[in-house]
Amino acid sequence: MSDSFSRSTRGAVDARGWGLTMRAWSKASGFDDIDLAKPIVGIAQTWSEVNHCHIHFRELAEAVKRGVWQAGGWPMEFPTISLGEFHTRPTTMLFRNLLAMDAEEMIRAQPFDGVVLLASCDKNVPALLMGAASAGKPAIMLTGGPMLASKWNGQTLGACTDCRRLTEDLRAGKISLDQYREIEDAIGRSTGHCMVMGTASTMASITEALGMALPGTAAIPAPDSRRLRLAEAVGRQIVETIKKEITPAQVMTEKAFDNAIRVLMAIGGSTNAIVHLVAMSGRMGRKLALERFDELSRTTPLIVDVRPSGKFHMEELFEAGGIPAVLKELSPLLHLDCLTITGRTLGEEIEKAEVKRRDVIHPLSEPMAKEGGLAILRGNLCPRGAVIKQSAASPHLLNHTGRAVVFLNQEDLENRIDSPDLDVRPDDVLILQNVGPIGAPGIPEWGSIAMPRKLLDQGVRDMVRISDARMSGTASGTVILHVCPEAAIGGPLALVRDGDLIELDVPNRTLNVKISDAEFAERRAAWKPAPAKYSRGYGKLFLEHVNQADEGCDFDFLVGAGL
Ligand code: FES
Repeated sequence: MSDSFSRSTRGAVDARGWGLTMRAWSKASGFDDIDLAKPIVGIAQTWSEVNHCHIHFRELAEAVKRGVWQAGGWPMEFPTISLGEFHTRPTTMLFRNLLAMDAEEMIRAQPFDGVVLLASCDKNVPALLMGAASAGKPAIMLTGGPMLASKWNGQTLGACTDCRRLTEDLRAGKISLDQYREIEDAIGRSTGHCMVMGTASTMASITEALGMALPGTAAIPAPDSRRLRLAEAVGRQIVETIKKEITPAQVMTEKAFDNAIRVLMAIGGSTNAIVHLVAMSGRMGRKLALERFDELSRTTPLIVDVRPSGKFHMEELFEAGGIPAVLKELSPLLHLDCLTITGRTLGEEIEKAEVKRRDVIHPLSEPMAKEGGLAILRGNLCPRGAVIKQSAASPHLLNHTGRAVVFLNQEDLENRIDSPDLDVRPDDVLILQNVGPIGAPGIPEWGSIAMPRKLLDQGVRDMVRISDARMSGTASGTVILHVCPEAAIGGPLALVRDGDLIELDVPNRTLNVKISDAEFAERRAAWKPAPAKYSRGYGKLFLEHVNQADEGCDFDFLVGAGL
């Protein structure tokens, strides 16, 4: 049991009288000495009316509480910041570290012996895992589950892969505004997070692989009653995890991160997971190099056929056996001896798992692709790395040379992308500068740059696009992201000009701009940084302390081993 619990509520007397006041105020809330003798389980609650993906979390928390009481614990729900992807401006990523700090400090400050972390929508899962890792108390992640896939006009729609596709269809005049509004009514069919393999589904899946969630957590649909029963099981489990004194540091080991990366590659997961895994590993005091992702990508086949890299949705992955079945199929590549939050090993947890649909989870011997979904690029345009989701890119563009068409920032892009005067051809390369951690700021999901209207009208639906931003895990296309160092701090991306030749070679993992060293030096000498976008408050703290994408965009003062 943690010191904080015994110090604040159990000690009969202390010099400041806190034992008495803590007990008295708990008794004022209706709890008695029997409750006060139990381990206290904090439930980090990210429910919020501005976060649709978490709208069912109150019911989920009640189920967790039932489980905690059943196992002899005392549940205490507490609120945290909640980051809903679609309502938060300028981007949720600006606030991931703020939520991580909120969670860390509250987990540490309150008399919890352990915590259940309730999160789903993209940034909430890594933020709570980062906070819990730094706080060092026993913790289990319970995600809220994916939405049910929706139907429209005989099509099955997946959010938000189809939000983007159908928006492009509207811009290209392929569907009417009335149809677009019908889609808007249909696409969010139930509670839950996006039902393709976007960042939320990806983070839920790799959390299972890390050993920080109960087996099966990621894929049970949000409205399925099995999720409520899972929540009860999590409530019971956290009490056991507290008794066994299993901390995140014992679970989130180097080998567990390898397992998580293997799963990321096998499911065609979100590029965002790279940034989050690097940040989470940093909280454990370990630098996770981008090269590790590439090494494991080259030796992990893509086996899960879920959009945007495949054709199914999370519902079908659940029918196929969920992440335990994926782990079972990947067994020869995994460290099965890793400890999980149950106290059992990963191998023991997946012993009975089986693949129930071979069209969704392919055999290792007959994968969808021999390599994993993501690749790391290097070159004079990205000396500290860049990322591409090759599984969701156009194969004919993976080895491509084209003329740069440069946009100075998002505003410049929005002003010119649909202009009939834009000088752009299908084999050009779109470059978007100044949308990284400091440039945007907050490294928003602006990297899946909208296709120029004049090319859409010609039927062109993909081209090479490069930026220092991120993109949604639900997006697809030949999109190169997280270019590092970013343009706003003078990275080479800032020096590219219209007409420069860009050379992309994904099989050989290179990304270069074909200009001479002398020309580079001349442009660098003339480059000047833009004024800072924030001069006070959290924004100022962010600008002064955020790390680059290859370091996970954590704050420099938060990196380091958990307690
Ligand atoms: Fe929350 Fe997609 S908007 S997961």
